[in-house]
Amino acid sequence: MNILITGGAGYIGSHTCIELLSSGHHIIVVDDLSNSNEMSLERVKELTGRDFIFEKIDIADKKKLEKIFMEQRIDAVIHFAGLKAVGESVAVPLRYYHNNITGSLVLFNLMEKYGVRNLVFSSSATVYGANNQMPLTEEMTLSATNPYGKTKLYIEEILRDLSAANSNWSIALLRYFNPVGAHSSGLIGEDPSGIPNNLIPYVTQVAIGKREYLSVFGSDYETKDGTGVRDYIHVVDLAKGHLKALEEVTRSKGIGAYNLGTGKGYSVLDIVRVFEKIIGRKIPYQLAERRPGDLAVSYADCSKAQIKLNWAAKKDLEEMCRDSWNWQVKNPEGYINQKVGIN
Ligand code: NAD
Ligand code: UFG
Repeated sequence: MNILITGGAGYIGSHTCIELLSSGHHIIVVDDLSNSNEMSLERVKELTGRDFIFEKIDIADKKKLEKIFMEQRIDAVIHFAGLKAVGESVAVPLRYYHNNITGSLVLFNLMEKYGVRNLVFSSSATVYGANNQMPLTEEMTLSATNPYGKTKLYIEEILRDLSAANSNWSIALLRYFNPVGAHSSGLIGEDPSGIPNNLIPYVTQVAIGKREYLSVFGSDYETKDGTGVRDYIHVVDLAKGHLKALEEVTRSKGIGAYNLGTGKGYSVLDIVRVFEKIIGRKIPYQLAERRPGDLAVSYADCSKAQIKLNWAAKKDLEEMCRDSWNWQVKNPEGYINQKVGIN
């Protein structure tokens, strides 16, 4: 198939590009590089031995995006492009609404106009809000408390309306839990700019000596050790989930939401211990206040993805942490100033 990938230079997008190319698909990547580096795509080419078109485009730029729809035959779209920092979204909500929602509307309009109605969308576990029982299942109540989460929820709603209005659309809403890890080569991985917001990149930066210690946000939650529990999923397992979702959208019409996680919850201190085992020394940490907006516990029921997509995550927490560490060691400054083909 010919697949348009928005946000394909990013963390999850670049890993998904590898899986798609390795399975024989053709891809066209658009990304404005607002949170990524073109080097990730060079590495994708290097790892797969496959070439593809890349256009540096903001998806909200209708003229430029339309040129792609006019010039390329596209069978399906995987839509990763979006801004994702929760705290930043609270500070600059209009930027988030414009980028994520306007950008998506431009894309969906062009898909409608050019008759491309197969879509896989990057949603998030954040759409479940704070009031559900664990594990989270797809039919539970949806809500969002911050502008980032709202953009995911609103785009899901837009797509449900679109599907209701035109039964030719075929849409998979993939609700990711906590993607971590990196490609086993250590050539591509997560490259946060500035101080990492997320746990694993922060821990790897402490482990390599870039940061002094980890602040553990909250030690009085009702969890086994008082720290927050999440469903971490290896990014390569997640990437493979996109191929399965693509198969589903091309074989049936309608819209479906799928949790992509492992179904297992691990605490912040579990993560610290696994990293300590991998690197063979202590990770300095300090117990700190809860981070505003954080849930105590979040983990998925993934049985729907298993049954309907024939997908299940395979990699365990140790492999996730080992691959994150391998990426960190091989790319201490991320993609910045690196040439293709490190070492
Ligand atoms: P990322 O920032 O690494 O990738 C997103 C990519 O989209 C980046 O390369 C960025 O440059 C690009 N982009 C942003 N706005 C764009 C625009 N207007 N036009 C073109 N390109 C644009 O993030 P990621 O972790 O790979 O996440 C991919 C998707 O998955 C996002 O939509 C994110 O919200 C969603 N998601 C991520 C997580 C997570 O924890 N990583 C969890 C749930 C959902
Ligand atoms: N944590 C720390 N210290 C840190 C960073 C995180 O203790 O320096 C803790 C958090 O409090 C939480 C756990 O580690 O208990 C995981 O935090 P992350 O920031 O890695 O992940 P979140 O679950 O908070 O956030 C993720 C995505 C968001 C998404 C959210 C809800 O990054 O985009 O899941 O789905 F909105």
